[in-house]
Amino acid sequence: MKRILICGSNGLLGQRLALMLSTQTDYEVLNTSHQRSFVFDDRLFDYTQLDITKKGDVKSLISSFHPTAILNAAAASNVDWCETHREEAWKINVVGVENLVEAARKVGARLVHISTDYVFDGNHGPYSEDDKPNPISYYGKSKLASENAVRIGGIPYTILRTIVLYGARIGVNTTFPAWVATNLKAGNHICCVDDQISNPTHVTDLAFAAVKAFELNRDGIYHVCGKDRASRYEFALRIADVFGLDAGLIKRVKTADLKQVAPRPLMTGFVTLKAQTELGLNPMDIAQGLMVLKREIQTAGCN
Ligand SMILES: NC(=O)c1ccc[n+]([C@@H]2O[C@H](COP(=O)([O-])OP(=O)(O)OC[C@H]3O[C@@H](n4cnc5c(N)ncnc54)[C@H](OP(=O)(O)O)[C@@H]3O)[C@@H](O)[C@H]2O)c1
Repeated sequence: MKRILICGSNGLLGQRLALMLSTQTDYEVLNTSHQRSFVFDDRLFDYTQLDITKKGDVKSLISSFHPTAILNAAAASNVDWCETHREEAWKINVVGVENLVEAARKVGARLVHISTDYVFDGNHGPYSEDDKPNPISYYGKSKLASENAVRIGGIPYTILRTIVLYGARIGVNTTFPAWVATNLKAGNHICCVDDQISNPTHVTDLAFAAVKAFELNRDGIYHVCGKDRASRYEFALRIADVFGLDAGLIKRVKTADLKQVAPRPLMTGFVTLKAQTELGLNPMDIAQGLMVLKREIQTAGCN
């Protein structure tokens, strides 16, 4: 039986992987995350606390569990926080990944690692896997460094780059659709940029690709994102429409107006042909993704 170690099981992607894999009989799954408690404590999934920055803990857990594959959904994913907390961001996004690589090498495990469109400068997206990264934010730099640590690590690996991830989750939901819906429901005006253009991605599509990556033993980098390209402003309008909220509260602005802490790549988006042909990805478009999100929120009672 394949043993799967999930790191960052409390996060958006980690929760989805935990739900997809912990209920299957083909796998023995160990969920891990930074917090002592697990969001699915009530479901009898196996869970143990693991801080990936603690090299000794990573080494001993991985040598005792002996996973076939490690799915790394753990990260410091807040772009502005990474810009102002560089040392901590590096520790989680790079040193943590180096620890996983080293431990994976000892047991011969495949590492499926998640990266981002923020490794690109956003001058000429959509990008394919062969395009040259050139990150403009500290988050993007740390994620590119994590990719390099995986690539030179001497282990079987898959790197999945993704974009503007969204989906329902237990706990605080910091995704873009959740932010838009919460504010519009409260009657707050929000500013959304029309010059940051990318492909929003439902987390189910990324989780699907992560599972296929280890099931099919696919090596290398894959671009995984939703079917439609849209600006944040257009995406916000679609969110308001699907959730029946007041789109009149959404103000169209430029990135320069927002004065965000970290610089943002403006034109990203991915070419996903490789993931479609080699992983069988058939990503949702925005309409499908938002309908799935709405249904998840209604049925599961999460955010
Ligand atoms: N969200 C996006 O829009 C987006 C876009 C492109 C790429 N990505 C990438 O996709 C991946 C998944 O993102 P996500 O949105 O699911 O992230 P997320 O919701 O922020 O979850 C990340 C999880 O990582 C865990 N974590 C943080 N530090 C850790 C440590 N030292 N040891 C172990 N676990 C730690 C946290 O666990 P606790 O809750 O237990 O503290 C957190 O729940 C990341 O690699 C991210 O960079 C995300």
